[in-house]
Amino acid sequence: MSTPAPLTLTLSGAAGQIGYSLLFRVASGEVFGPDQPVRIRMLEAPGAVRAAEGVAMELQDAAAPLVADVDISDQPRRAFDGADLAILVGARPRTAGMERADLLEVNAGIFGPQGEAINSVANEGIRVLVIGNPANTNTMIVAAHAPDVPRNRFSALTRLDHNRALAQLAARSGAPVGEISRVTIWGNHSRTQYPDVRHALIQGRPALEVVDREWAEGEFIDTVAQRGGAIIAARGGSSVASTATAIIDHVHRRLHGVREGDWSSAGRISDGSYGVPEGLVCSYPVISRDQEWEIVQGLEVDAFSRARIDASVAELIEEREAVRHLGLI
Ligand code: NAD
Ligand code: LMR
Repeated sequence: MSTPAPLTLTLSGAAGQIGYSLLFRVASGEVFGPDQPVRIRMLEAPGAVRAAEGVAMELQDAAAPLVADVDISDQPRRAFDGADLAILVGARPRTAGMERADLLEVNAGIFGPQGEAINSVANEGIRVLVIGNPANTNTMIVAAHAPDVPRNRFSALTRLDHNRALAQLAARSGAPVGEISRVTIWGNHSRTQYPDVRHALIQGRPALEVVDREWAEGEFIDTVAQRGGAIIAARGGSSVASTATAIIDHVHRRLHGVREGDWSSAGRISDGSYGVPEGLVCSYPVISRDQEWEIVQGLEVDAFSRARIDASVAELIEEREAVRHLGLI
């Protein structure tokens, strides 16, 4: 069998914590598969190019057969040239006492120029996954600056929240994570998000028959929605390895599909589905068809869920107003 042509991955923030954790998993084939060579384009801030060179030296020392080539730049037009997948991590993480939205002013300016470069020089099939916080609104900014790229190619990472929800349900019910399905993260990747178990199955049974409703509507939601802050408080820095795992889970499921009968969660540019205003980047239940994310349609939204989704959407609207005010969209 002949070796496929290399794919080009552009990773911003490649010398940062998440970048450092993710790159070696890309090199080992966990993201694109064990036979798929990859060209790695690292995009860094000028002051971190030297550190990126060090990471590139380590990648070289890993002698990974799948790494076809590594390039480092602080110029978006060079870094996104010919990109098939852009993973946008490069942004400041929050520290103790901050909400993710507090990062809007400091991080949002990064994403417009990157969107413009993606629009001009990336491959026609480009997919963009945004990690840098606040991830949903940053995704909206990138997309606004890349008008020629189809809207369904942009995603914000909420698979980390999805994984957190699975883990909490597993701990509560005693069921293995792999036997829990149809969990949904709705809304913003923030403390207003709504981790929803109303359609979830635990070992084939409705989740609300297995775990108690009071926990599912209270402590469970708070634990998942505030997990990022809990990790910062405990570790002294925001989550890194679990984020790299969630990035891999997201990309892998888009490329290879989700399990039959299950779905994942991802921030998508709303087309009005589930009453979310068009253009906001909202987390939805998604499946992958022909390597494209599709929003799962037709789920019943009861009054509890409606109120939770609307509260998170209200925050997304506020964030959109803030970036409009900053002249970023
Ligand atoms: P980090 O500080 O270790 O690394 C960030 C890197 O981005 C640095 O190397 C920095 O030089 C680089 N950078 C800054 N400006 C840049 C620019 N204009 N272009 C390219 N690179 C640039 O931070 P980290 O722990 O890797 O986290 C990165 C981001 O991811 C943060 O905003 C964090 O809040 C976010 N995050 C999101 C999720 C999620 O689930 N969506 C999870 C964890 C972290
Ligand atoms: C997370 O969810 O762990 C990240 O978004 C980092 C943060 O600031 O919470």
